[in-house]
Amino acid sequence: MRVAVAPGAGFCFGVKRALKIAFDAARRGDGAVVTLGPIIHNPQVVAKLEEEGLAVVQNLSDAPAGATLVVRSHGLGRAVLDEAAVRGLRIVDATCPFVKQAQDRARDLERDGYQVVVVGEERHPEVLSITGSLEEAASVVDGPGGLEDLPQAPRVGVVCQTTQPLEHLKAVIDRLLESTGEVKVFNTICRATSERQRNALDLSARVDVMVVVGGKDSANTRRLWELCRETGRDAYHIETADELEPSWFEGKEEVGVTGGASTPQWIIDDVVRAIEGM
Ligand code: F3S
Repeated sequence: MRVAVAPGAGFCFGVKRALKIAFDAARRGDGAVVTLGPIIHNPQVVAKLEEEGLAVVQNLSDAPAGATLVVRSHGLGRAVLDEAAVRGLRIVDATCPFVKQAQDRARDLERDGYQVVVVGEERHPEVLSITGSLEEAASVVDGPGGLEDLPQAPRVGVVCQTTQPLEHLKAVIDRLLESTGEVKVFNTICRATSERQRNALDLSARVDVMVVVGGKDSANTRRLWELCRETGRDAYHIETADELEPSWFEGKEEVGVTGGASTPQWIIDDVVRAIEGM
């Protein structure tokens, strides 16, 4: 059985950068270091970081006094940052520059009088950081499934969660063009995401079965898995090699492997070795 790995599988630039910032902060040994929620949606990496002294808290009130708060690549809204400052936490900002750009674009749209629409998952931390950087409430639309929730406003400005597929953004724009006088769009989808999705689709078109590796809570990994399944290929989403089932590969000649933006290379390598050993 041959195994092919999709180009660009695994950590993206923003995740690598955030992890380096977090490791550096933890290794400085300058008091407690925390993140609000896991730094990335990958339990294996989060466990390694915990060994280095980076604790995960679910609420700012759980952070020890004087702790350093590492802002994850998803970013944080203004209210949370203000609360962190009031609590005396030191902020180390690891927000991905592409997420920052989406926040800035949304703010520009609001300042210029547009009703802001964010295409993305309503409860995703990145979307919360974008809506949380605005003065007024934005509408959040999860692609084609949420078109009924689009606002009726004369001027609508659109930004997108960085890991959404382009089709979701296009579906929202198409619908807005039917009902809105003025639509201004910033395509804030990150290039690493679109390339990863395209590479996964290309690979899925030529192999017998796809294995998508990444955290079960990772939205971009789940999306990769959905895209591979939409091609009609058998596709499985696993976190580690332990979950592989030999029956998935019976009678198959070529297996494709890809990984989400928060999947470390060592886990992808483990999976490839395990499949090759079957
Ligand atoms: Fe940033 Fe794109 Fe990764 S937005 S965190 S480089 S997927």
